[in-house]
Parts: sequence; C-alpha cells; structure tokens
Amino acid sequence: MAKIIDGKAIAAETRAKVAVEVKELRGRGVVPGLAVVLVGSDPASRTYVNNKEKACAAAGIHSEKYTLPESTGREELLDRICKLNRKKEVNGILVQFPLPKGLDERAVIETIDPQKDVDAFHPSNVGRILIGDYRFVPCTPAGIMELLRHESISVEGKSCVVVGRSNIVGKPMAMLLMHANGTVTICHSKTRNLTDVCARADILVAAVGKPKFVTADMVKPGAVVIDVGMDRDENGKLCGDVDFSRVEPVASRITPVPGGVGPMTIAMLLKNTVTAAKIQNGIPVQ
Ligand code: GUN
Repeated sequence: MAKIIDGKAIAAETRAKVAVEVKELRGRGVVPGLAVVLVGSDPASRTYVNNKEKACAAAGIHSEKYTLPESTGREELLDRICKLNRKKEVNGILVQFPLPKGLDERAVIETIDPQKDVDAFHPSNVGRILIGDYRFVPCTPAGIMELLRHESISVEGKSCVVVGRSNIVGKPMAMLLMHANGTVTICHSKTRNLTDVCARADILVAAVGKPKFVTADMVKPGAVVIDVGMDRDENGKLCGDVDFSRVEPVASRITPVPGGVGPMTIAMLLKNTVTAAKIQNGIPVQ
C-alpha cells in the first residue's frame, strides 16, 4: 500500500507561504501582478484561467485577465503582449495554451519579456534551466520538485525515469531531477523496452498524456510514482497517465489524479509571480 501524496494539502501550504510573502512585499509598496491572456473559448482553458485568477486573489496578487476572441490575429496578440511587457503593474505574463489554430505559440513565447515569463517557456529561460542558473521554472516540474521536497524524498543518486519529452513538462523535469543529482532517463514513443526501463526507476514521472499508460509491471516495488496526466478513461472519468488502482499497491508513494500534481501547478505560478515582482523591484530572491 503506497502513501498517497496529498498535492491539494501541500499546494494549500505553498499558497499560504506565498500569501505571507505577498503581504510583506505589499508592506514595502510592491504589489505582485499577473496578466493572464486567453485566446478563444476552449472550456478547459477557460476553467484553468479562472482558477488562476481566483488563486491570485486569495494570495493577494493583483491579476488582469485578457479574453481575446478566437479570430484574434497574430499581430494583435503580439501587440497585446508587448503592451503587457511595458506595463509596470504586471510582473508576470501567462498566455494560456493551446492557442487556436493558426496562431504561432513560438512567436508568443519569444515575445514575452523573459523577466515576466512566469511559465519559463522563453528560450532564454529554458537555456538557464539547462545551465542550472534559473529563477523561473515551468510550474508543473517545479510543483513536482516541491512535492518531493515536502515528502522528504531524496533524489540524489536515484534512478529517475521521466516518460514524455514535452517542452512544458518532460524536458524541464529531467533537468531539475538531474540538478538534484538524480540519474535521469527520458523515455518517449520510440523508446525500446519501455517496461524494463520504467521498472528500474526509483522515481517514475509519467507525463505522456495517455490514460492509465503506466501499468503495474512498469513499476519497481517501492518506487515513487508521480502522475502528471489529466486524461479521461473509457467511461469519460478523469484519470491520470498511471493505472492508479493497480500501481498503488506496488509503489511506496504515489500522486492521485485529481489532487496530486495539478494543484501544485497553480501554487508554483503564484510563486513565480512573486519571484518576478522581486526581480523587477531589485529585491533579492532567495
Ligand atoms: N496549458 C497547459 N498547461 C499550461 C501551462 O503550464 N502554461 C500555459 N501557458 N498554458 C498551459
């Protein structure tokens, strides 16, 4: 029986710590601010954006939401970002992905001022993560590192396997685990003997976006299993990338879906926004 890592509770603790920091900053006349840009009307994206807005309000962070129509053109969107780059009240900018077809995500990412890039998607922030000299980390991998820290799970010397090589999760996750002295393997759709590779992991991170992809035979007894998935099973029920009911008895710790990694993502976004406010106001970031 694995211990279930309570991401909801740990995220609440992180958010409470952020709120204390925001209070201190406000006392010094600095109000951290986040701008969230949503293009189009994808219902899931709309929910995510609304949750981010609520989380900001609860932590005392100023937030601005820009909802642009599906028909928004490239120049209009980039122009909006440039205006936010110049706006003093805005320390962090997040453009919700995916964008409607025809809009270029790379152009959007590269237009955001790297100092306001709270997603850490800009090539200069990605490069900093690679080098190990970074202040912003993409929210999901950052949240996972926080979960491991909170649970006193040491990464050093461990075999860490990340399944999935996306720019948002897989690649930065692998870098963070490596910086924490893990021995890291990244698996993807072309990996041979995936089951065997996964079964060697002390820490297994599933970020493939396929429901119940990680099965019990892919998990070493006693491994820590982190599930980044937000999928729907054959009955339309929310589930993760891990076949939870079968893997849970094999693992030593496991994150549930929902209530695992997901809540940490927003908490880390708030943290990155506070970091951005500090950087832009010449306040040391510890
Ligand atoms: N869509 C899904 N996850 C994310 C994220 O972390 N950042 C942004 N901007 N969009 C997303």
